[in-house]
Amino acid sequence: MNTVAPIEASAAEEIRAYMAEQEKKSLLRFLTCGSVDDGKSTLIGRLLYDTKLIFEDQLAALQNDSRKHGTNGEDIDFALLVDGLEAEREQGITIDVAYRFFSTPKRKFIVADTPGHEQYTRNMATGASTADLAIVLVDARQGILRQTRRHSFIASLLGIRNIVLAINKIDLVDYSQEIFDRIVADYQAFADKLGFQSIQPIPLSARFGDNVISASANMPWYKGPALLEHLENVPLADADEERPFRFPVQYVNRPNLDFRGFSGTIASGVVSQGDEVVVAKSGKSSRVKRVVTQDGDLARAVEGQAVTLVLEDEVEVSRGNMLVAPGARPEVADQFAAHLVWFSEHALIPGRSYILRTETDQATATITDLKYRIDINTFAQEAAKSLDLNEVGVVNISTQEPVAFDPYKSNRSTGSFILIDRLTNATVGAGMIDFGLRRASNVHWQALDVSKASRADQKNQKPAVIWFTGLSGSGKSTIANLMEKRLSSLGKHTYILDGDNVRHGLNRDLGFTEEDRVENIRRVGEVAKLMVDAGLIVLVSFISPFRSERRMVRELLADGEFLEVFVDTPFEECARRDPKGLYAKALRGEIKNFTGVDSPYEAPENPELHLHTVGRTTEVLASEVEKLLTDHGIIFSYDQSSWSI
Ligand code: ADX
Repeated sequence: MNTVAPIEASAAEEIRAYMAEQEKKSLLRFLTCGSVDDGKSTLIGRLLYDTKLIFEDQLAALQNDSRKHGTNGEDIDFALLVDGLEAEREQGITIDVAYRFFSTPKRKFIVADTPGHEQYTRNMATGASTADLAIVLVDARQGILRQTRRHSFIASLLGIRNIVLAINKIDLVDYSQEIFDRIVADYQAFADKLGFQSIQPIPLSARFGDNVISASANMPWYKGPALLEHLENVPLADADEERPFRFPVQYVNRPNLDFRGFSGTIASGVVSQGDEVVVAKSGKSSRVKRVVTQDGDLARAVEGQAVTLVLEDEVEVSRGNMLVAPGARPEVADQFAAHLVWFSEHALIPGRSYILRTETDQATATITDLKYRIDINTFAQEAAKSLDLNEVGVVNISTQEPVAFDPYKSNRSTGSFILIDRLTNATVGAGMIDFGLRRASNVHWQALDVSKASRADQKNQKPAVIWFTGLSGSGKSTIANLMEKRLSSLGKHTYILDGDNVRHGLNRDLGFTEEDRVENIRRVGEVAKLMVDAGLIVLVSFISPFRSERRMVRELLADGEFLEVFVDTPFEECARRDPKGLYAKALRGEIKNFTGVDSPYEAPENPELHLHTVGRTTEVLASEVEKLLTDHGIIFSYDQSSWSI
């Protein structure tokens, strides 16, 4: 027993020494990007393997896997080491970001292995936002491709300053210096405008290891560093303690009544006990009483540290808000200009609402203006009505609630956001904020003395929007028309907004593309809201084919003010009735973007009323709407009995 203790002590000592040494090393975060088959995963596998960081059991598994799936005969297929998911192996592409950690005596590394398939730009952007360096892989046989340009452009947008141009598979072009030089010249001509701090071209073979860890005897003409050597030595920007303090609050930590702290990771700057801090959105200030961590209190903490701050006063700091330096506050605005990278198959549409998420905060947002799209080959600014998959544009965004942010140029973490589709919850875009925008020409909301409630009282009614949606020819306008007659005979003050009519005036500039329909509904939604404010019962009869915009209008109004009526007439029946002869034309291809033919209709999932129209008279259908209005207190049952007498 006696002999055990000293051994344990020395082991512990060794571990401590090792940890201390690791602590001192600098950390380089990098990512790889390139096209499918450029050999990214093979390269990372090679780096891990040659730096002896694969454990024995992983190696054995790898050898087995290589026999099963590999494409390299009896050789180990390094890509298998990195392509974690079974699905990827089957498809032969990498589909998610995988983070790997490894270290050498000189430096620690975190590598984000990002996918190369065209549709996976999203994951690349996700992996890139914290990276110091990007390895742009190029297949020596192919040279610079569209994707090489796209990835380099996004890397520069995301603020990555150092590039390694890894010209891979050089063995397959006989280690040709001429080919290498030509690709380097091509790349430099393009990347010149991207403002990188360093571009290091390296000819290599990930498969055979040339110039990965050490200089290759196959390319005596190459005098530069091997990849690992470069990664170990590339100068890193120091965490700049001069930057203003930013602490996005991830959650309010309140385990019991005696403790209340704000937890998060310091996005920039330094905080010390006793410092004054300000809540970004409210401007309330307090002092830091304690800087708490898992290992006890600190006197001071810096960028990158996860801490819990306890303040001297009971100030209100909700999740999503930021604690900041009083002398250098971030912007707080509900409108700003930004660069946006679009990831979704479904185009970005100005006017549609998305969820905007910053590191900790969230708000409903719309693109109010797509200023231009950027051509990634020429950097030209092109006029555009929407952004497609993988396109980059400059936009103005407006959020429903103000958000606190810094321009991306001065802070990558408080200056970035993602956009999320409200229906599918998919991330559809990533943005970098350029600057905040003031409301146009100092327009402020004018407070008025006569209120919505008093206008409604005067009319002795409860204002609301009855929103009829359904295919063209489904009967929306006919039902709305009869309904308005009945309401009017009850002395109710009403108005009908009908698609065909509004399109003659207010919306005469709009056609039937997806963008135009979104704008059509946005405008009519705003008008309906004003009419509700005026105290009216508004009947809206628009196809309004998209869930997203119907939901947007619902959210414009107060609870209970928006009643959605789905006028459900099957397509075949509408086409048979064809009151305006439009179905016949559309089916002959004479009208484009016709709803139900070559433009979608998204049926409501939870309408307040689902009207099946087939085989029922307009009177019966209108009576169902009346019941809806009674149930919601818009009309009273004695109203109805009065007209049946
Ligand atoms: S919406 O989709 O933007 O809500 P809206 O209700 O304003 O459509 O207009 C629909 C009316 O426009 C239809 O009832 C029909 O008379 C006419 N129309 C003309 N072209 C089309 C088209 N391509 N698709 C649908 N409706 C069309």
